[in-house]
Amino acid sequence: MVSTRLTLSREKPDTFRGDLLIYCLQQDKKGSAIVPQSLVSKELDRAVALKDFKADANDSLLVYSQNTRKTKEFTGRILFVGLGCTQDKDANQLSEMCRKVGGNIATKAKETKADSLYLSLPSISKMKEMDIAEYLVEGVLLGDYSFLKYKNEDKKKPPFKGIREITLSSAKSRKGLLKGLKKAQASAKAACAARDMANEPGNGWTPSSFASYATELADKYKMTCTILDKNQMKRLKMGGILGVNQGSAEPPKMVILQYHSRNKQAQTIMIVGKGLTFDSGGVSIKPSAGMQDMKYDMCGGAAALSAMAVIGEEKPDVNVVAIIPATDNMIGSSALKPGDIIRHYGGITSEIVNTDAEGRLILADALAYGIKKFSPTCVVDLATLTGAVILGLGHHRTGLLGNNQTLVDRVLAAGAKCGEPLWQLPLDKEYIEQIDSDVADIKNTGGRPAGTITAAAYLQKFVGDTPWTHLDIAGTAWNFTKKSYIPDGPSGTGVRTLVELVRNWEKFS
Ligand code: BES
Ligand code: MN
Ligand code: ZN
Repeated sequence: MVSTRLTLSREKPDTFRGDLLIYCLQQDKKGSAIVPQSLVSKELDRAVALKDFKADANDSLLVYSQNTRKTKEFTGRILFVGLGCTQDKDANQLSEMCRKVGGNIATKAKETKADSLYLSLPSISKMKEMDIAEYLVEGVLLGDYSFLKYKNEDKKKPPFKGIREITLSSAKSRKGLLKGLKKAQASAKAACAARDMANEPGNGWTPSSFASYATELADKYKMTCTILDKNQMKRLKMGGILGVNQGSAEPPKMVILQYHSRNKQAQTIMIVGKGLTFDSGGVSIKPSAGMQDMKYDMCGGAAALSAMAVIGEEKPDVNVVAIIPATDNMIGSSALKPGDIIRHYGGITSEIVNTDAEGRLILADALAYGIKKFSPTCVVDLATLTGAVILGLGHHRTGLLGNNQTLVDRVLAAGAKCGEPLWQLPLDKEYIEQIDSDVADIKNTGGRPAGTITAAAYLQKFVGDTPWTHLDIAGTAWNFTKKSYIPDGPSGTGVRTLVELVRNWEKFS
């Protein structure tokens, strides 16, 4: 998707000479496709009459002949896609519907190897044209994703390299449409960048990769990038990330990227993302079945960094600082051991019960350090933190916890709006007591019960009174609910929630 060109055209679809012409059709309340008068296609009429095409949300009909009676008609592929019935849907359902239809379009483009598309925008009551365009195109671009970097090309069967260009009909406001398309492109591109990072294996994406990516973003968008290396971490006494890194030959990095709003009075949002580039579990080693998926343990960091690209592009009226504590969790001879006691940045001591509960150790240092250094108005962290969240919520919702309901509600709303649903879990003091330790201030696991909550309780020890929410994306960062616009593999979850949250930031008090 990365370089798909988006253009607006005032010309009629008949003059289109590309690969795939697309019409989106709605369904009436009785379950039949509504065919606009302007749309003249015998094939469509026949399919509708036979009820083979009902314009259901997953319906599509590909035809190969002409669709108008005019002489210069388009004679390539024509795709009719169903939107379903739009009448009783609320705003979030309508945008999600558009994204899913966009994903269906991307699937068909891939099947037919069509790389230049013309999208005739439907009119949907209750939806602005610019929003329809934004969400449809966002869905197409997200659905068009593939990761081919490590595959040698089969000359006889060249893979589909993605959609080259999409032309959109522009009936009404050109300016509004362009704005919608720009937003779609920025957020889809960022989510796909996060997927790219996640798809990289542990030997392809290291803590240093996070550092160089952030440095490049800083150059491109005039942001400030600071990379704390191992020596600086030692000086700052960051015993959490240093402890996790102890068993590794790969040096850790604390990546800090700051976007400065032009508004001197602007508030500051701090985003922290777990950048664990491979989680073997350490001495408390993980079972080998499925361990390869632990290359995805950096998806929180990928989301934080990718969202910064959109922020750099769109320049919102709020300062944003992203911090990615990055290391792998390995098992070298100097690795952290169960029973060891570490001292976090700021002084809190922690008894290591299980070296596989490492995410909270690196996040704790990042949270404590970032809050001390930047005094943010509020903090959002994202982490593939616990297997327990998958037991609780499956792969359909991200777990959300926090110490400030206003902030939690904002994040819940942002996620619901962009198709990344979340669910709040409680953080009562009884859960917090589960991580009391006999020998240190706290311990790094609270036992099997409520594993997601006790992990969040650990993080909470490091945020003080700063409004904070934690997103446990272990169930959604990959294997996310099957959706047309989220191909198998890493989903890029969190990126668009962050973007949504920051884009419409209203002063927080
Ligand atoms: N990265 C894992 C969590 C995880 C597990 C993410 C499965 C995605 C899928 C994390 O570091 C971890 O190992 N957590 C442990 C914590 C436990 C030892 C308290 C877990 O969930 O088992
Ligand atoms: Mn782990
Ligand atoms: Zn982990």
